[in-house]
Order: sequence, then C-alpha cells, then structure tokens
Amino acid sequence: PATPHASEAPGPAPAPGPAPELFTWEFAANPYPAYAWLREHAPVRWTRLPSGVEAWLVTRYGDAKQALADPRLSKNPAHHDEPAHAKGKTGIPGERKAELMTHLLNIDPPDHTRLRRLVSKAFTPRRVAEFAPRVQELTDDLIDRFARTGSADLIHEFAFPLPIYAICDLLGVPREDQDDFRDWAGMMIRHGGGPRGGVARSVKKMRGYLLELIHRKREALPADPVPGEDLISGLIRASDHGEHLTENEAAAMAFILLFAGFETTVNLIGNGTYALLTHPGQRHRLQESLARGERGLLETGVEELLRFDGPVELATWRFATRPLTLGGQDIAPGDPVLVVLAAADRDPARFADPDVLDLARRDNQHLGYGHGIHYCLGAPLARLEGQTALATLLTRLPDLQLAADSAELRWRGGLIMRGLRALPVTFTPDP
Ligand code: HEM
Repeated sequence: PATPHASEAPGPAPAPGPAPELFTWEFAANPYPAYAWLREHAPVRWTRLPSGVEAWLVTRYGDAKQALADPRLSKNPAHHDEPAHAKGKTGIPGERKAELMTHLLNIDPPDHTRLRRLVSKAFTPRRVAEFAPRVQELTDDLIDRFARTGSADLIHEFAFPLPIYAICDLLGVPREDQDDFRDWAGMMIRHGGGPRGGVARSVKKMRGYLLELIHRKREALPADPVPGEDLISGLIRASDHGEHLTENEAAAMAFILLFAGFETTVNLIGNGTYALLTHPGQRHRLQESLARGERGLLETGVEELLRFDGPVELATWRFATRPLTLGGQDIAPGDPVLVVLAAADRDPARFADPDVLDLARRDNQHLGYGHGIHYCLGAPLARLEGQTALATLLTRLPDLQLAADSAELRWRGGLIMRGLRALPVTFTPDP
C-alpha cells in the first residue's frame, strides 16, 4: 500500500492533538465527534481496522461522492492486495468464496451492468408501490402483538421482523418458510457477518433453500406474464426473455436482496425511532403533521433521518485497480478504500448545521443510499417501509417514550452498519 503523503489539493487543517480512538465502545455509541476530527484533519486516512486489515477512510462529502462513482475503485475483492498478517480475518465478504457472494455489491461492469439491468426489470418502483398495503398490514400486525402490553423492545419486536417478512413476501418465499429466514437472518445480524460457525451454516442453508426455490419457480412459471407475480419469478422471466442468468446468479441476487434489504431497514426503523424519541420538538411536529393527514414532513423526515444517523455507516469495500489521488492522498493499486457515509453526511461544507436534526430539511442530497452505479436498488422499498413503520408507530402509540437512558443503549459494533441492539420503550397501551 502507498504511504500517505500530502499533495497540493486543499489541505487538512493542522491537528490540535492526537487522533481520536476509533472502533471503541464509546465511538460506537457516538462516532460523530471522531468523524468531525477526521474530516477536518485527516480526510483521507490510512487506518488499521479492528480486523487487522488497513484501509483508507474517506470522510469528506466531496471525496466520498467522487470515490463512490470512481471506476478506478473496483468492488471485486480479488483486487485486494492483502497483507499476510490479515489473511482470512478481514471480514471482506468475497473471501468466503461462496457462490452467493458474487452479487451486485462485489462485481464491476460489464457483469454488474447486465445483472443490475435484469433485476431492475423485476424490482420496479411500480411493484414496490403495489406492495404498500401489504407493508401496512405487516406493520399493524406486529404492533398488535405488543400494543396492549405498554412496553416493548422495538428492535426485536418490530424493526427486526418487519423487513424480513416484507422482503420474503416480495421475493415470493412462501409464508410457511419465512420463519426459517427470520432465524438465518437473526444468526447473521447477531454475529456481525463473520465467516465462521453459525453464520457460515446459515448462509449455506439459505443458499440451498434459494437454489431449490428458484428451480421450483422456473418449473412452475406459466407461459403468460402474470400481473403481481413475485420478484424471483420476474427475475427468471426477465432472464428467459433475453440475457442469460444462471441459477447461481439468481440465488446470489435473491441473497443480496435479502441481505442488503434486511439489516439496513432494521436500522432505519431503529435509528430513526431513537432520533425522534430524543428530539421531542421534531417528533411532535411530525405527529401533528400526520394527524392532519399530511405526508410531506414524513417524506422529507425519513430522508433526514437517513442523513442524520443512517443505517449504513461505511459503504461496502472498494479496491483501487489503478493509482489515483483522493482528497490529496495518493492511493496505490490494491489498497482498500472505505467511504464513511456517516461522516460525509455530516460535512458542514455540504449541509447547513449538519449536526441538527431538521425533518423539513430541503437541500438534502445525502449519501445514505450510496451514489453512482451501486446506488441502492432497494431505496423505494426502504422508503416505503421506513415511512410506514414510523408513521404507524407514532400514530398508534402517540406517547411512545424511551425506557432507558441513552447512555445505557448498546450499539452493534460491526464495521459497515450502524444500529442498536435493543430499543426499550413504554407507552399507554393501545386497546
Ligand atoms: C446498495 C443503503 C435498503 C438492496 C446500497 C448501498 C447503500 C445502501 C449505501 C451502496 C453500497 C455501496 O456502494 O457500497 C441502504 C439503506 C437502506 C437500504 C440505507 C435502508 C434504509 C435496501 C433494500 C434493498 C436494498 C430494502 C432491497 C430489498 C440493495 C442492493 C444494493 C444496495 C441490491 C446493491 C446495488 C448495486 O450494487 O448495484 N444500499 N439500502 N437496499 N442496496 Fe440498499
């Protein structure tokens, strides 16, 4: 890897003291002060991660946006120039070598272009819009289960099950199999995505199941297009009508839809509810606007919650394939680059009062869904789920409040995602 050296680009301000410690428990609870320091004094910084692997952390908005769309940064982990001491411990997904890992987030054009075009034919905004009543029904069912008790852990009882049932329904996983998915997904989220033990077993089971499901659906596919058919059937149909999609590619696609669409949405609901509960003025404005039957503040509000404390703290891995300069640093081929979305979205050079939560914020081109060719495919579904979940919670349980001190709450210590382990709340029971 290149040794850091400054160039003529607008330079960072001289550091007033030692760099803050990253990846501690304190940092996990509130990484924003440390990110502010990095943005100001070391905006593109060679950093040792807890796994032992080193990577460039990119924290300014402008550099982040450039890096997310730079074709010299590959998504294929084969480009990683991995030092011997970090072999096998980096947690870089491609290292699992499982077929499920050759998915959209780990590939480059032209394969990426072909697969993304295929899935975009099946995963259309229209399909998502038609799915709105089902998301509302799922949301109400989950709230019904704890509404009479007066207390709940909103992560386990609400934020966690909603996205997994939603995406299973959309993909066409039969209802009777969805609790298996819930268990496999739970395994992955609890163990933070490491390659060993239960996670590997869960991935294997999921792969076996998905391959069989795809096979069954291919056999059962009727000759004429059926309106409202599920996404896996749509994907098979799109591939049968032109470009080729192998069963392995279809399984990897179903897997990334589940995987990318699951923990992210858990965290949008979890982090979003937490931010609302700790900003009572903003929360009441939103409740009043919902009571008047308006949608505007809900829509801008969910975008602001994504900017303010989004589910994806760092974008997924990128690897330089050619030398490049980013924020004044020279980056060598093979170097891993991690774009810190959470830092970029609080950059005062891009957002006015970035540390203030303003649900009505207008100029809000946040990077919470990424940028460029890997921009989140599931953004319309995430918006639908986030808006439905938050609006229904605040309407049905209007005096919802935190049942723990902010200092007592525990955040998951993973590298890519940012989310709470539990969110205890109390409320007047809804009869
Ligand atoms: C990609 C965020 C929900 C499917 C991404 C990326 C981000 C992101 C930041 C780009 C990562 C990178 O460039 O390294 C989010 C957030 C969500 C969310 C914040 C929830 C609030 C979903 C949902 C689905 C989904 C519900 C699908 C059901 C995908 C897929 C990609 C992706 C397939 C890869 C696209 C590609 O590589 O072309 N998401 N996501 N996401 N997301 Fe989401």
